Amino acid sequence: MRSGAWKDGTDTAIPMLPASAQEIVSLALDPEVAVAPIVAIISRDPVLATRVIQLANSAFSASSKEIASINEAVVRLGTGLVRTVMTSTCLSALATDPQIYGRRGRDYIDHSVGTAYLAWLIAENAGEHPPEAFLYGLLHDVGKLLVIKLARQAERYGVVPPAEEDLVEVMGEQHAELGGYLLRQWGLPARLHDAVVFHHAPEQAVDRPQAAAVNYAANRLAHRYGFACLMDDFDPLTDPVFQKLRLDANAVARLDLQAPVLFELARKVRH
Ligand SMILES: [Fe+2]
Ligand SMILES: [Fe+2]
Repeated sequence: MRSGAWKDGTDTAIPMLPASAQEIVSLALDPEVAVAPIVAIISRDPVLATRVIQLANSAFSASSKEIASINEAVVRLGTGLVRTVMTSTCLSALATDPQIYGRRGRDYIDHSVGTAYLAWLIAENAGEHPPEAFLYGLLHDVGKLLVIKLARQAERYGVVPPAEEDLVEVMGEQHAELGGYLLRQWGLPARLHDAVVFHHAPEQAVDRPQAAAVNYAANRLAHRYGFACLMDDFDPLTDPVFQKLRLDANAVARLDLQAPVLFELARKVRH
């Protein structure tokens, strides 16, 4: 893993991006998106269609009139929220193979979607584009999937599968960098790169330091709220990155209130 020798294999087992991902990602980043193309994509995907309609009929919408069509659901929820559900459902599909990811895959999805909503919320004040922040939040730990998958397939590479603690160590060391590798392999927009690669060290980002700072803050907050990860006693108010993003006591108090709703949303996307 550390040598990178696996990259030379003829069947480098990188996780496969779902077929519709390119289309959904470009739609998610399109500033002038209309309702019609969104409805068209959702209509082709029964899982996505069910989630969007359920969400439109859930606590997230104010009206009591039952919604049965995708078109109505998109209008009720708004294109912004619907696009977050589309990208998270689509990219969650990456980690759903129970043979490979098991319980880890489900936690990975909840943590990623929770982080994505946090990035979405803090982006605007930081001068970042919220739909783009949602995407890099969603992808911030994607490198972990590659580490898990390679470890699972260790025999194929003629090596002994790593012990749990070694796996965790390599994952910690390499996942951010490997996330950048996956983004390039998948041909996702280069402007998402820095936010993923430097989400633990935003000060090292060259092209997009502000995006990296937003992703760092979103991930730290996801840990503060225990979004499918260990809760820590991290204090955002003493962190220089939070100060740079002008996330003060009021802003953090607001996020503290919104966090449980976001986590519920993250879980709805998965189930
Ligand atoms: Fe991470
Ligand atoms: Fe994370």
